[in-house]
Amino acid sequence: MRLSLEEKKVKGKMNYVRLRIFLSFYILLISLIFQSCNLDVKNNDKPLPLAKKENLDSLISECLVCHSNKEAQRGPVIHGMERWYLIDQLEKFKSGVRGKRPSNRSEYLMGVGARKIENDYQLAFLANWFAEQNPLPAIRTVQGNIEEGKEFYLQRCSSCHGENGQGNRLVNAPSLQRLEGWYFLEQMRKFRTGERGYHPSDLGGQAMAAASKEISDRNLKNVVAYSVSTFGPKEEISNREKYSPKKSKKPF
Ligand code: HEC
Ligand code: HEC
Repeated sequence: MRLSLEEKKVKGKMNYVRLRIFLSFYILLISLIFQSCNLDVKNNDKPLPLAKKENLDSLISECLVCHSNKEAQRGPVIHGMERWYLIDQLEKFKSGVRGKRPSNRSEYLMGVGARKIENDYQLAFLANWFAEQNPLPAIRTVQGNIEEGKEFYLQRCSSCHGENGQGNRLVNAPSLQRLEGWYFLEQMRKFRTGERGYHPSDLGGQAMAAASKEISDRNLKNVVAYSVSTFGPKEEISNREKYSPKKSKKPF
């Protein structure tokens, strides 16, 4: 079909208008994606597209009620854990892959905590926030034979978690460098009895549960004592040592 000069002009103009609409739609889309990816809100006083800064701050404080090393602590310290692992675990708690069994009381408690997270944006924000915090020191609570623990660790754990407990994302194995002794030991016992890592879609949990089968209590304590003292969090002095009067240097 042949078009007259006038018709060609009109068609060209329409194409131009379409192109502009198309381009501005793309620019809008890209800027929306950028905004929602911009998780660093520390220096950003403007309201975020999906959540207000104050709401996010109060959400963090709710997590810190249970996740700090203060006296009334009920959950593990998660400061400085890897972002991918935090996201992974929060998704497990949200979907009920972890934390749905009332018999596992502490996990169940966190299942309640996870309901405070309303959407994926908040979830990613929280994981990012905790991942960026400096690790907190911990009181040493588990005693064991360090030499035996080392041997056991190198035989049974380092293939997935790395020689220095640095973790290996390729096999979903988290770093063990932030774990406090009491929580570390508790989780090992839960993996061993099947209180954690039982859900059919919890592949990482199942791998770890299989790796914990039939470890004796003695070996568990040794491996935890070794890990925490070798590559674990810095040691925090206990309150008893902090507040009791210093020993006099004078001889009696
Ligand atoms: C009522 C107390 C409580 C609140 C509130 C709470 N948690 Fe927890 N959380 C726990 C406990 C207890 C555990 C340990 C579960 C276990 O023993 O298996 C836990 C475990 C976790 C873990 C898994 C850690 C690991 O090493 O596998 C993550 C991640 C976590 N919480 C993040 C959060 C975030 C983020 C918030 C805020 C929305 C939050 N929690 C609110 C009690 C709480
Ligand atoms: C086959 C690989 C594999 C081996 C071997 C293995 N792990 Fe794991 N481990 C994992 C995976 C995967 C996870 C993550 C589980 C999850 O997603 O809930 C994990 C999780 C853990 C956790 C929980 C961390 C947390 O923050 O809650 C601890 C503690 C742990 N492993 C210690 C050990 C120790 C100690 C050994 C040796 C006795 C060991 N693992 C051997 C793969 C392994």
